[in-house]
Amino acid sequence: MAEDRTLGDTGSTGNRGVGGSDAAAPHPHEMAETVARVRELVRTHSKRFERAIPLIASENLLSPYAKELLISDFHSRYAEGLPGERYYEGNEQVDQVETLCLDLARRLFRCSFADVRPISGTVANLAVLKAFADPGDLVGTSRLADGAHISSASFGAFGLRGVKPIYYAWDAERMTIDVPRTREILRAVRPKLCLFGLSLFLFPLPIDELRGTLEEIGARGWYDGAHVLGLIAGGEFQDPLREGCSVISASTHKTLPGPQHGILLAEGLEAEATKRLQSGAFPGVTSNHHLNEMAALTVSLAEHLEFGRDYARQIVANARALGAALHERGFDVLAADLGFTRSHTIAVRVEQEGGGEAVAQRLAAAGIISNKNLLPGDKSPRHPGGIRLGTPEVTRVGMREAEMRRIAELFDDLLHRGRSPEEVAAEAATLKSGFTSLNYCFAAGEAAYRYYDLVGRDPA
Ligand SMILES: Cc1ncc(COP(=O)(O)O)c(C=O)c1O
Repeated sequence: MAEDRTLGDTGSTGNRGVGGSDAAAPHPHEMAETVARVRELVRTHSKRFERAIPLIASENLLSPYAKELLISDFHSRYAEGLPGERYYEGNEQVDQVETLCLDLARRLFRCSFADVRPISGTVANLAVLKAFADPGDLVGTSRLADGAHISSASFGAFGLRGVKPIYYAWDAERMTIDVPRTREILRAVRPKLCLFGLSLFLFPLPIDELRGTLEEIGARGWYDGAHVLGLIAGGEFQDPLREGCSVISASTHKTLPGPQHGILLAEGLEAEATKRLQSGAFPGVTSNHHLNEMAALTVSLAEHLEFGRDYARQIVANARALGAALHERGFDVLAADLGFTRSHTIAVRVEQEGGGEAVAQRLAAAGIISNKNLLPGDKSPRHPGGIRLGTPEVTRVGMREAEMRRIAELFDDLLHRGRSPEEVAAEAATLKSGFTSLNYCFAAGEAAYRYYDLVGRDPA
């Protein structure tokens, strides 16, 4: 905090008036100090996460080889277009890497089309909307309160493309789409495109069951696999391209432990639809596609082909174990009758413990990182009744079912037995101290939370 004040003071009393101007000009050392301060904050953040139990369902850790490529010269370059058809010179190696990346993506997802130019999951969603919907079209999706991502909200990507969401009926007991009622909605409204995919994604969605209805009304099935991409690739979740969806959009950094980026995958697209999807990605919603991330993604796809099955299996086993252990300790974990989850995520209704926001904050003070989450039936989006917990990161650092039971004990101590956040944080750090290196990748055993100091000194 003392450091906070120092910087704040420097900023407010800085070297004004230099050169006769009243404009704020930097103190000779101010910017160098700022650089040092940023480095220090990021180091502190890394150390904090090294001691914490990170349970955010959408986060993961990058492997050493993938991380290395993020700071390679690829970061400095442009390569608009596709391999072999670029708008810039100097892309020979970039083309070879991207060709490998596309080959690996098609192999991992057993499909005939991949495009790695969207720079995030949201951008991939926009590319699909640009390709397959026009402003004013109706597009089927789930409600935010039922777990959908903000992409399908009118204030998100749907609104940006000007399409109108048509909501599926939801079965809150089973945490999935209600098939008979959704069939009726689809037949009555006949959307052009139907999006399946969630941010609170506990169970596979019944696309196969709805496939006949999609065909009957002539709607294209589209899957947002941002959360479950690594599970699909690892054979642990549904296989949307064989169940009635012709296109998948996704992020590449959640259960697939790659760099923050996006991807498009497709099967059975006609030539004209393929062209529309490619042009949706570029020039539709990207210019350059962050070549350093693309190279890192190539490594992550190769690693997932090698290690992804074991990793995905353990992620799901851990999520189910965490759900069961919390349930045994009196927490209201959703879908208890169904084994809590078939994915990396569980949802816990925490109204008894103080509500989603208060509980997530108290957990964070105890070194357990989660997020508040809207649950079906919540009245106010500002006061979610739940928290969402995910196991990708704790699994990546080697935790298994026994550690999930220990984490549930820490929840119980903090939220039911009145132990202080400080005491629980100390125990969380002790638990975590045995799990700080990377697994399910090449160079396994490297430090997971290492800060890579390239220069060895601060600029001042
Ligand atoms: C279902 C779903 N789609 C898309 C996204 C957006 O991904 P990104 O953050 O890569 O833009 C998310 C993010 O969590 C998500 O949960």
